[in-house]
Amino acid sequence: MDKAERTALILAIGFLGFFAGLLVYAAKALNIDVPTCITDVKPFTEGKVIQHAPNRYEIHYLAKMWYFEPADVEIPAGSVVDIYLTSADVIHGFQIDGTNVNLMAIPGTVAYARYKFEKPGVYHIVCHEYCGIGHQDMSTKIIVK
Ligand code: CUA
Repeated sequence: MDKAERTALILAIGFLGFFAGLLVYAAKALNIDVPTCITDVKPFTEGKVIQHAPNRYEIHYLAKMWYFEPADVEIPAGSVVDIYLTSADVIHGFQIDGTNVNLMAIPGTVAYARYKFEKPGVYHIVCHEYCGIGHQDMSTKIIVK
């Protein structure tokens, strides 16, 4: 083996080891994890709105062929909402128009997102995962006043 080739190989292996070590350091010492929106919350069988404080809400969305439960939800502007989402049957999508909330409703799991609704308006929620013949009608909304 050529000397330069050998040096390059040793350097490459050295770098790999160094970066692998950084990964282990980030995971163990700094507790940095892969981002996830799946929670440990048990899947629920009904949708509901829970108000914790004047501007603090929790919404449990149940996706079902072909609607969301609860239907239209009304909240005051400036509300922070914890959104939990599960599915009662097949995989559905859940996207809140005009926000970065984009979840998947997977049977047996609960997805989570938090969003602060600053601006008043009607936020449409659509299913963006093909889920059968009623897919295109599967939507609901959050009305922020
Ligand atoms: Cu539910 Cu598409």
